[in-house]
Amino acid sequence: MVRRIAGLLRAHLGRLLVAVSASVATELAALALMGTAAWLLARAAEQPPLAALSLAIVGVRAFATGRGVFRYAERLASHDAALRALATLRGRVYDALVPLAPSGLPAYRSSDLLSRMVSDVEAVQDLVVRVLVPVSTAVVVAGVAVGFSALVLPSAAVVLAAGLALAGLVVPLLMVAAARRTARRLAPARAELAAHHTDLLQGSADLAVFGATATALDEAERASERLARLERRTALTTALGGAAAMLVQGVTTVAVTVLALGARADGGLAGVMVPVVALVALIAFEPVLPLVPAVQRLLEARSALRRVLAVLDTPPPVAEPGDGALPAPSGPVSVALRGVSVRYPGATIDAVDGVDLSLTPGRRVAVVGASGSGKSTLLACLMRFIEPSAGTVLLNGADARRYDGDDVRAVITGVTQDAHLFHTSIRENLRVARPSASDDDLLAALQTARLRDWVESLPAGLDTMVGESGGQVSGGQRQRLALARALLADPPVVLLDEPTEGLDPRTADDLMTDLLASTRGRTTVVVTHRLAGLDAVDEIVVMDAGRVVQRGTHAELVAVDGPYQDLWWASRPALASE
Ligand SMILES: Nc1ncnc2c1ncn2[C@@H]1O[C@H](COP(=O)(O)OP(=O)(O)OP(=O)(O)O)[C@@H](O)[C@H]1O
Ligand SMILES: [Mg+2]
Repeated sequence: MVRRIAGLLRAHLGRLLVAVSASVATELAALALMGTAAWLLARAAEQPPLAALSLAIVGVRAFATGRGVFRYAERLASHDAALRALATLRGRVYDALVPLAPSGLPAYRSSDLLSRMVSDVEAVQDLVVRVLVPVSTAVVVAGVAVGFSALVLPSAAVVLAAGLALAGLVVPLLMVAAARRTARRLAPARAELAAHHTDLLQGSADLAVFGATATALDEAERASERLARLERRTALTTALGGAAAMLVQGVTTVAVTVLALGARADGGLAGVMVPVVALVALIAFEPVLPLVPAVQRLLEARSALRRVLAVLDTPPPVAEPGDGALPAPSGPVSVALRGVSVRYPGATIDAVDGVDLSLTPGRRVAVVGASGSGKSTLLACLMRFIEPSAGTVLLNGADARRYDGDDVRAVITGVTQDAHLFHTSIRENLRVARPSASDDDLLAALQTARLRDWVESLPAGLDTMVGESGGQVSGGQRQRLALARALLADPPVVLLDEPTEGLDPRTADDLMTDLLASTRGRTTVVVTHRLAGLDAVDEIVVMDAGRVVQRGTHAELVAVDGPYQDLWWASRPALASE
């Protein structure tokens, strides 16, 4: 982990060096300012000619101005480096997430993922600004202060070195020991609280319906208290550590002063140097004191960055071919499944089991079967969202694995079962599929999806907002908007997963008829529960527990005993009652 973070920061090494140099210069200027000022006051008390003081006066001015300028430069450079490192890391997290979506992400709760992407990633910024720069500065400045004291009064240098080591090394290490467990639990506790908030907000209606709001609130409250307890404990440790370090600073300064006074009495040290030695000791602690909170931040950053790296290390469910990818398929597209099986990670049985399917250009196939029989999984496999665990998907005769996933989805795509609507207008939701589409194109697609009349009846028409996740439209309207979007994308092979779900039987059957009419001549796979109109498709595939148990045309399947005939008879009363 250390190596990977170092690798990330190495790209910004130049800026980091500038930041550290500026920070060291700031603290050295402060040290020199205090030393020179102390000497100036002590010497002035002896009332020498002004000329004897002029160099020190210039020094005080220069160091005072320099300190401000250096501090400004340090802030600029360290934040520049930190924000760049943050941008790099965030980019990598996004890059890792894209191939994980949509089938690799369920391993994470969405709010947890959000915490990892947003707040945990920011730990790298803290690492630079609050850990890396302060620690390097403290080491250099402490070294210079001890070196200077050694030249002037070696015994004071020994005491100062011991004090600095105590405040900058021993106290922080004790703190690490005390706070390690707490710090490791902080980031997960924050994610936990975020998860409760998301559940409360997104599930508020369901919670209210089932009278579970109070329980859910209590749980969120408890998560909040757990986090608060951890944070209080952390704050207490940091405060105690800070106080201990300051105590060491005070005691060391007093001890150095006593030594300096003793040396002066022995004649080993000039009187004017006594305040210089004492104040240099005092100021040498200034960059060392922030090491206590720095260590705290380091612990937290480590656990946060570990969570980020876990996302980066999640293997994508589908391996991309990389440089050896075949060029995107063009012309008429034919697809064939040869003995395709899919097993989800951790599952003991195949969700799709040895399926063969032939999709020559223009062929239309309907997939029917009980819930959980593997219909959506089959479509996900065609879109290369998941990899077959056995068998091959052939695209224009070549193994689909040799194509870039995005190239595959450019020719094989459609509407998924849980299609997402964006929090924007109907127009923009449709244009996701084809940004150049004109309003006429949009209305034509809406017409096929049987939504045109509804959209035209809305006061804002195509500009109507659909709300977050389509929350301001009905379930059936949401499904049909997704369908219109898929039709607009106009891919050579269109996949439709339950396009009539959520509709009343009559609308569903009308929509199915429209769909089958509008996809004539286009390669289509439609997953459906409704059998009406399926006499129009070339092949019906009946699935059960991942396997194809029957296949043929409607006429063939209705004529023989079997699951399709059962389904057909089961759907008759619904048809007859209309
Ligand atoms: N992401 C997943 N991880 C693990 N198992 C999954 C996942 N998605 C689906 N499954 C399992 O795979 C099997 C097939 O699911 P699939 O969604 O393909 O069924 P389906 O035929 O589309 O059902 P429905 O008609 O309800 O949409 C089910 O047993 C389901 O529990
Ligand atoms: Mg499904």
